[in-house]
Parts: sequence; structure tokens; C-alpha cells
Amino acid sequence: MAQELLATVRRMRTRVRTRRFIINWLVCCALVAATSELPRLQAAPDAPAAQSSGPVTDLSLPTVPDLNPDPRILEINLTAEVARVEVSPGRRVDAWTYNGTLPGPLIRLTVGDRLIVHFTNRLPSPTTVHWHGLRLPIQMDGVPGASQPQVETGGTFTYDFVVPDAGLYWYHPHVMSAAQVGFGLYGAFLVDDPSETFKVAEERVLVLSDIDLTEQGGLEDPETGGSTGMAFGREGNTLLLNGRNHPRVSMRSGVTQRWRVVNAAKSRFFNLDPGVGIRFTKIGDDGGLQEYSEELESLVLAPGERADVFYTPTAKPGTEYGVHAYLFDRGFGSVEARQSEDLFEIVMADTPAVTPQPHPRVTRAIEAISQTGATPVAIEFGIDQKEDKSFYYTINGKPLADIPPLKAAVGETQIWKVTNTTPWSHPIHLHGFFFQVLDKDGRPRRPLKWKDTVSVPLKDSVTLVVRFDDRPGSWMYHCHVLDHAEGGLMSAVQLSRPGEPAPPLPSEHTHPASP
Ligand code: C2O
Ligand code: CU
Ligand code: CU
Repeated sequence: MAQELLATVRRMRTRVRTRRFIINWLVCCALVAATSELPRLQAAPDAPAAQSSGPVTDLSLPTVPDLNPDPRILEINLTAEVARVEVSPGRRVDAWTYNGTLPGPLIRLTVGDRLIVHFTNRLPSPTTVHWHGLRLPIQMDGVPGASQPQVETGGTFTYDFVVPDAGLYWYHPHVMSAAQVGFGLYGAFLVDDPSETFKVAEERVLVLSDIDLTEQGGLEDPETGGSTGMAFGREGNTLLLNGRNHPRVSMRSGVTQRWRVVNAAKSRFFNLDPGVGIRFTKIGDDGGLQEYSEELESLVLAPGERADVFYTPTAKPGTEYGVHAYLFDRGFGSVEARQSEDLFEIVMADTPAVTPQPHPRVTRAIEAISQTGATPVAIEFGIDQKEDKSFYYTINGKPLADIPPLKAAVGETQIWKVTNTTPWSHPIHLHGFFFQVLDKDGRPRRPLKWKDTVSVPLKDSVTLVVRFDDRPGSWMYHCHVLDHAEGGLMSAVQLSRPGEPAPPLPSEHTHPASP
């Protein structure tokens, strides 16, 4: 049976190659489904076994030693390097890592602390580190051309900044990011707020991702499927939670936990089912706590997004259940003929269940950004085909090399209407600034939240409001399905002070994938 499936897979692959020049849109969509189906077919034979066995892990993330005696300074060494990691018992892969682990170390500090990172690149390719969601000066944003030169193999760079806001953030490269993030380069970045008054028994940082492995256990070619694969946004075939495929985690029934969750996958949306009769209480979003909490039957996170949730596992002591990752419809090929699977299994400790207590009430005063005098900006995400029928994405009708940067002045407020005419969803991410999402009538969506990434659903639009403070620079905005960014959904906002020259543009702006 497995042999037959693999043969079909190989035939599909050949077909993708030879018919690339004659496909029309509809045929293409079918192929997208087929292409995205390939990894699942490969992974299917061993997935169920991995799901029900294996040791119980504690899911803790690696940490990194602090070289600085000053309690308000965290000074660390961070090295990007290829390292062998174990994604499930006996299953090892040479991934691209920070400090040899997948994910990289959890960087944790208190709001207002200073971070100094001595970064070294030991990868066979240039790279940088981008601090996703942090409101930093442009020089620390990790974008070649706009912030710094790319760090060549063997090169170093020192990142040095103060963390301005509490919340869960993350770090990843900004050079060939679809490949590099897909190979394993990401880590969580947690900024604590000492003034928080609520307490729960346990806290976990959960890094959701996936990795694309070949049958031989190597890393899949990040260009597989050509421009069709790009148009879809290639997903990894192996789900990872804190770097582990289908881990089993021990918890105590009735004891509330706080989960800080980040979706670090290069394309995959996660749609987590909390389990029978359980709900998530969501208290925070990308930029820290939100105005008030929401009760959720499922938790959806687009690539790049974060959530802060309370979770109370409830089941008979000694039993086990799965936190299921449902398929999320992000466009053609994302749900058709695919199967969903558990992200991880919760093993109830064999101790008497605790009677669950109501979740603490958590609120935060957030002011709606004033829209008075705001500049309207229209951004349209489209898709088009070249003469050879290969696909490319467009912003306002222009391919990547021709997209003019947006302009903004320090102190300006802008209202972006982002329209998506394509058959796939696009989580738009803006570097360096938080925004608020508006409803169809232009009122801020409640509860109020600080966002840096929001999904623009297929054939739909999203409106957001952003105020640019006094940090001039060219700040990228792009789809966080990283294949889409490199395929054309990527540009920058050139933010200047009046009377000063416009800041330099990112080099990726014109050469997205050039090494
Ligand atoms: Cu997390 Cu430019 O991105
Ligand atoms: Cu970012
Ligand atoms: Cu996209």
C-alpha cells in the first residue's frame, strides 16, 4: 500500500514538472492540492505509531547563559549553525538551528531590560536575526539594506537594544527566510511584566511549527513544486511543538496553566482544539495582554501570530487525550484530501484531580488609536502569471521588483485597507510597529489588541490603523507565509522625519532570494 502511494506521488511530481508550461488556472489549482498532498502521503505510514507511543517530555525550551552580571542586562552568545536534532525518538535531522537546538533558546527578560546578542553565523549561507514584533530602532531590525549588511558565513554582528514592551515575541532570519525558517531557525522571546498581579500554577511557552522532511530523513528542497509550490506556500510535513513531533506531555487534571503560544511555521496556520468540554481563555495577543479576555472553542494562529491563553486540562487521572491541530482553510489545497492530526498528547498525571478554579480575570486599559487626520492607504494583494505560466504575487498590480515603497512621516497615522484578490489567505506583518484592526464600519475591533500580524482571508479585506512614532527607517511589511513574501507579497514603509532624506530601502526589496 505504502509502495503504491509513493509511486503515485512520484508520478504526480513528474507531471508537475512536464506540464508546467501548459497548465491553466484550474488545472494548476488541482496540482497545488496534489503538491501539498505529497508530504502528507509520505508522512502517513509512521504518523499513528509516533502519536501513541514515546516517552513523556516536559516541553521545556532550552535557555542560554547570561554573560553579564548586571541584572538588567541579558548578554548572550547566539550562533546559527547546522546541528543534528531529534524530532521524535530515534528520528534525527540535520536542521538549521540557533545554538544547536530546535527551536533556538528561549530569550527571556523583563520589560525595560537591555539585551546584547553576540551573533555568529556558521551556516553555509548569509543570514540575519530579525526580532519579530519588537519596537526597536531600525538598526536592530535585522533587514539587510535597511538595518545592517547581511551576516556572511563566518561573520558576526552585535544586536544591542532595550525591550520596550511586555509580551511574547520571536526571532528568525530575514535572508531567504522561507528556506531558513523552514529548516528550523526560530526561537521564542518572552518579555515579562513585573506589574502583572495574576498568577497561575504553571506557565509554558509553546512554539508551534513544522518541518519538511524527505523519506530519507533529510530536509526537503525548499523550492519543491516550483512557482506552484510558492503560490500555495509550502508547508512542512512534520508538525513540531517545541521541536518535537507528537510529544506526550504530563499535566495535572484541573490545574490551570498559562500558555504563551507562537506560530513559527513558514506557511501553516494552526487551529487548535482544546479537547472535549475544554475552552481556551485568551488574555493576550501579539503585543501583550488584550483589553479583556475571550472564551474560545478553538485557537487559530496564522504564521507569525501569538496568543496568551489560560488552559485547564480536565480528564480522569491516568488517561490521555490529544490537542488536535485541525486543518484551517487558508485557500485551495489547504484542506482538500488531507488529514489532520494531534499536535501533542496530554497525559493526565496519576494524582487526584484538582477541582478547577475559575480563571483569573485579566484586563488591560488600551486606547483606540485616534483616526483623526489619518491618511488612507490602499494595498491590494494579487496573483498573476508570466508568459511561461509561472506564478508571481503582486502588490497593487506590481511584481516584487517594481513595488514602490509606501511613504510615511514620523508622527503620521495611516489607515491601511488591505484587499486580497487571490485564492489564498495572507497574514500581513508590519515590522517595528503595532497596529489595531478595524471592523467593516471603521471601528476598532474589540477587545482591543496590539497586533503586528493579521490574516487577510482569501477574497476578503482587512483594515488596520497604525501610528508611526519617531523611529525613521524603512520598515518591511509582508505576508508571513514566507514563500508568498519572496514570491512578491513584500515591500516596505519608508518612514522619514520631515526635511530629512528618505532612509535606505531593504536590499531584499529588489533581490528577495539572492544569497
Ligand atoms: Cu517575522 Cu519580516 O518577519
Ligand atoms: Cu517582523
Ligand atoms: Cu500570503
